[in-house]
Amino acid sequence: MFIKPFTYGSNLQQATLDNKEAQLQLSNNNTVTSRTDYIKYIIKNELESRVNLNNHIEQDDCFFVLDLGQLYRQHQKWKRCLPRIKPYYAVKCNSDQKILEYLTLLGVGFDCASGFEIQKALQCGADPSNIIYAHTCKQASYLQFAAENGVRKMTFDSVDELYKTKKLYPNAELLLRILTDDSKAKWGIGLKYGAPMADVDNLLQTAKTLDLNIVGVSFHVGSGCSDAGAYHDTLRNSRIIFDRAKQLGFNCNLLDIGGGFFGVDYPGKPTFEQITSVIREAVDQLFPHDVQVIAEPGRYYATSTLTVCCQVVGRKLLSELNEDNDDSDTGNKTYAYYVNDILHSSFATRLFYSDVIDLRVLMKNGVCTYGNCHNNEQKFSSRVWGHTDEPGDCLSENARLPLLNIGDWIYAENLGAYAITTCHFSGFERPKIIYVDSKAYHH
Ligand SMILES: Cc1ncc(COP(=O)(O)O)c(C=O)c1O
Repeated sequence: MFIKPFTYGSNLQQATLDNKEAQLQLSNNNTVTSRTDYIKYIIKNELESRVNLNNHIEQDDCFFVLDLGQLYRQHQKWKRCLPRIKPYYAVKCNSDQKILEYLTLLGVGFDCASGFEIQKALQCGADPSNIIYAHTCKQASYLQFAAENGVRKMTFDSVDELYKTKKLYPNAELLLRILTDDSKAKWGIGLKYGAPMADVDNLLQTAKTLDLNIVGVSFHVGSGCSDAGAYHDTLRNSRIIFDRAKQLGFNCNLLDIGGGFFGVDYPGKPTFEQITSVIREAVDQLFPHDVQVIAEPGRYYATSTLTVCCQVVGRKLLSELNEDNDDSDTGNKTYAYYVNDILHSSFATRLFYSDVIDLRVLMKNGVCTYGNCHNNEQKFSSRVWGHTDEPGDCLSENARLPLLNIGDWIYAENLGAYAITTCHFSGFERPKIIYVDSKAYHH
C-alpha cells in the first residue's frame, strides 16, 4: 500500500490534500478518517518500518510525533473566541522551526524573549512588525539586534530599562508591563516581572523626560491561568494607565494581554471558551476599536502538538513495597519500569509545572494498541523512570499500567509545551521527530 507521511511544504492546503489522497488504511477494512486513527497510522508505520533497520539504535530509540494540524485547529478556535486579538506565539514555549514556519503561514506573530528567538522568527519568515521583544530586561546586544532588524515593539518594567533603551534604541515602541495577580496560575511570574501600579507614574514620567515612545501596556497573568478574573482586573488597570499616559502626552494604541491559556481543557477548570468570553467582553468595554490588541499565547498553541513514544528498556518487581500483598491476583504488586526517554527533555512539563503525565500503552507484545484503553486488563501500580542516572528522573511515581515487558512501548500526549527545547541531559540526543499534519481529519 502507498504510505505517505506528511511532506512539509510552504503550501499548507496542498500538503493537506496530499494527506487525504493517500487514503490511509489501518487495516484492510479500516480507512483512516479521524485524527486519532491518523496518528496511530503514523506511529504503527514507524514501529513496523524499524524492524528492517540495520542500525539497532534507530530500531528502539524513542521518537516524537509532532502534529502541525493541531496548530491549525487551535488557531481556528482562537479566531472564533478572540477575533479582535492577534496572537503573537511565545517562541520560548517550543521553538521548533516547523512550528514557527507553520504559524507564520497562519498569520500568527511572535513573542520573542532573546536575540536568538528574534533571529529564528525572522528566519522562519516573520515580518519584524509581527514580532514583539517581550522581555523586560534585555541583553544589550539583543536590543541592538532588534534595532538593526526593525523589531520595534518591546516591553519594559523599570527605570533602568528605560535608560538602556534610550541609549541603544531610542525609537523603540514601548509597552509598560504591569504586575498581575498570578495566584491562580500554575506558574506565576509576578515575582520576577511586571511593575506594580504604584510605580507606574514614575515610569511614565521618566519615559516622558527621556523622550521615549510609550505605545501601550502589556501583562501576563502567569502560565496555566484558570481565573478569568485575573485578566479582567488587569484589563481595568491597563485602562487606567492608558488614560494616565494620555494626560502625559503619550498616544497609547496597543494592548498586549500576554499568555497563560491552557492548551487543552482540564476537568473542573474553566474552558478556553469560558475564559475568553470574559476577556472579549472586558476588552470591548474598556478599549475602543482603534486600540490594537495582541496576546502572547505559548502553551495554548504548542501543548497538543506533541506525542512522545518511548520503549520499556528495563523492569523490576518492587517486592519490598509489597511485603503484605505481593500476590498478582490482588493487583497490588508495584513494578518499576525504565524507559528510554528523559524527564528533563520530553517530560519537562512535570518538572516545571508539576503536571501529571498520562502514560499509556503504545505497543504490547508486538501489537500496536495506541488509543486503546486496555480496560479489561489488570492494572498495576507502576513507577516509570527516565533514562538518566539522575534520581529525580522519574516520569511517573504511580501510573496504573497493565503488566509490560521489556521491549514494549508507552506513549504520552500533549507534551508540546516547554519540553523538547530544554537541555540534552546526560548527552542523550534529541529524539527523531516525525512531522505530520492531521488538518484534513476530524478531531
Ligand atoms: C512574557 C511572556 N509571554 C508569554 C509567555 C507564554 O505563556 P503561556 O505559555 O502560558 O501562554 C510567557 C511564559 O512564561 C512569558 O513569560
